[in-house]
This record gives sequence, structure tokens and C-alpha cells, in this order.
Amino acid sequence: MGAVVVLVAAVLAWALPEPDGAPRGERPGLARAHGIALGTAVAVDPLGGDTAYRELVSGHYTSVTAENTMKWQYVQPERGTFDWSGPDAVVGFAEERGLSVRGHTLLWHNQLPDWLAEGSLDAGELRAVTREHVDALVGRYAGRVTSWDVVNEPFEDDSPRLRDNLWYRALGEDYVAEALWMAHEADPEAKLYVNEYGVEGGGAKADALYELAADLLDRGVPLHGIGFQGHFVHGNVPEDLAENMRRFVELGLDVEVSELDVRIPEPVEEEDLAAQAEEYRYVLESCLAVSRCVGVTVWGVTDAHSWIPEWFPGYTAALPFDGDYTPKPALAGMVEALRRDRRPRGARGRGVR
Ligand code: XIL
Repeated sequence: MGAVVVLVAAVLAWALPEPDGAPRGERPGLARAHGIALGTAVAVDPLGGDTAYRELVSGHYTSVTAENTMKWQYVQPERGTFDWSGPDAVVGFAEERGLSVRGHTLLWHNQLPDWLAEGSLDAGELRAVTREHVDALVGRYAGRVTSWDVVNEPFEDDSPRLRDNLWYRALGEDYVAEALWMAHEADPEAKLYVNEYGVEGGGAKADALYELAADLLDRGVPLHGIGFQGHFVHGNVPEDLAENMRRFVELGLDVEVSELDVRIPEPVEEEDLAAQAEEYRYVLESCLAVSRCVGVTVWGVTDAHSWIPEWFPGYTAALPFDGDYTPKPALAGMVEALRRDRRPRGARGRGVR
């Protein structure tokens, strides 16, 4: 019955055209009908001042991730001083528009405040400070932020070794388990993730992540999911994405593609955008092919907001909307994947978060 209502609502939603001719709300409707989240990373400034940006987010997505504002640097810029303005804005917007929120991120080696990054805390102090941060952030949004990237990028960039970060140095490799327990205590209902990149296809780093996950689960540590970031280079999207995600599901975990973008080297030709659409379609299809793949999140709303040009000079056009907020073929690619797979909600391992 619930599935019928959702499908009927989705069909009605598709019937209403948007000014640009695209059916309004097709993607949220379809994603909801499939029981997966379709998300985007949002930034605080445009969320506050840009109506078109806000409409684009809630017209096309069912979930948001804060691109930066829930990171340690912004939440606790000085020791003991918390700034909730950004996180509150993201969560408030999501609630107003009926979107779910992925929490991103608790322990990461980047975007730390100076007082923490300098690494002067001993193990006991670091543990206390981490607990305080996790308690404050996860606790504040308990029941409202439904999943958290508790540990982000725990492995070295290009190797299967655990990254030598602040926590690893002070607490040893069990910091991952400690962090998961802290988050679990702060919100026992939240789905807790390890989020990583360069692990989307098989390989030594993905194998190491698999071993870590298996070990944590064996020990009863509250790990519920793996985020596969999915920062892909056009023409180089791994062919075994579904197969690789599936083995994590077989361990008993949820999986998601948490930060999808497909960057194209300049100059960008029409044919690149057409091929990029196939890559976006493929990623959605891969998620739909894996039970307990609970969602796909793209890393930014339009090409004007994407981190790619700044971080990967010479690359651009990584997202499903261009800098003028116009849908690109990539958007149609995602919709096509959702249209093709018509399994009703309920047929999947889990419903929409
Ligand atoms: C990026 C943001 O998009 C940029 O705005 C910021 O300057 C750096 O961080 N992996 C992650 C994300 O987990 O948090 C990163 O986001 C991209 C890589």
C-alpha cells in the first residue's frame, strides 16, 4: 500500500513540467520509489542567498550532505567554542524541504582547526576532546541527521596502509573503533559510516578497507555502512563498482556512493558530456543493482559550485548541472537509470533513510 502511494505520488509529480521542460520532481520521485536516497552536497552561502540553488536542490534530490560546514574546522574553530550556524542552516533547510541529511564528517585529517592540527594533545586529551566534539555534534542533531561519516579517508592516498593521522599517531589503529563507539553513544540510532576514496573498484586499498570493516564487525563495533566517495575521472570509472560494493553488503553493511563527481579534462566537448551521462547512469545502475546500496550523493549542486576546478586544475564540468544551473546530459543519465529499474521500494534491503 505504502509503495503504491509513493509510486502514484511520484507519477503525479512527473506530470508537472518545469519551466525548462524537464518534468518537475522526477528524480526525487523516482529515487523515493526505489528506496534510495539521491543526494547532493550543499554549501552554506548559496543555501542562504540563492533561491534558484535551493529550488534546484529540493526539486531534484532527496538528501543533502554539508560540503564543508560540519567539518571540525568550522564547528569548533577554537577549543571549546562551537559554531552551529552553518550546520543549523543545512539541517533547517533539509527539514523544511523534507530532505534527509548525511553527516559529514567527524574524524578527518583535513580541515582541522589549528589548535587541533598542531598535534600537541597527548592521547588522553585527544580522546577527551574527540569525545566532546562527537558528543556535541552528533548529539545536537540526534534523530535529525540519520547517518554520519564517522571516519573519513582512514587509508593513505595511494596505499592500503592506515593513514598516519592525528588519531592514529596518538591512539593507534583502534582509533577507528573508538570513534565509532563515541558516535554510537552520542546517537544510538544513527547509521555510522567509514567513508573513503580510491576504493570504489577492487584493489589493494579496497581490500584493506574490507578487512578493516570485517574486523570491526567481528568485534561488535557499531559500523553500519561504507561510503564510496566516487570522485571519478571521465573515462576512468571502475567497471566493478557493483561487484566491489556487494562484498561489503555481504558483510552485513549498507553502502552508498557518497561524493560522486566525474571530472573532465579541458576543453570539454559535447561528446564528453554525452559520455559522462553514461558514466552517471552506470553509477546509479550499479547502486540499484546492489541490495542495501542506500543512495548516491553528487558532490556539489552545479559546476559553478564544484570543488574540482580549484583542486584539480585543468579539469571541470564534473556535476549534473552546468554553471548556469542548466541540466546536463549527466542528469538525464541518472534519470534513465532510475526509470529503467522499476523495482518498488520494499524490494530493497532498506527504505529511504
Ligand atoms: C572538499 C570540499 O568540496 C571543498 O570545498 C573543500 O575545500 C575541501 O573538501 N573528500 C571529502 C570531502 O570527504 O569532504 C572533500 O570536500 C572532498 C574529498
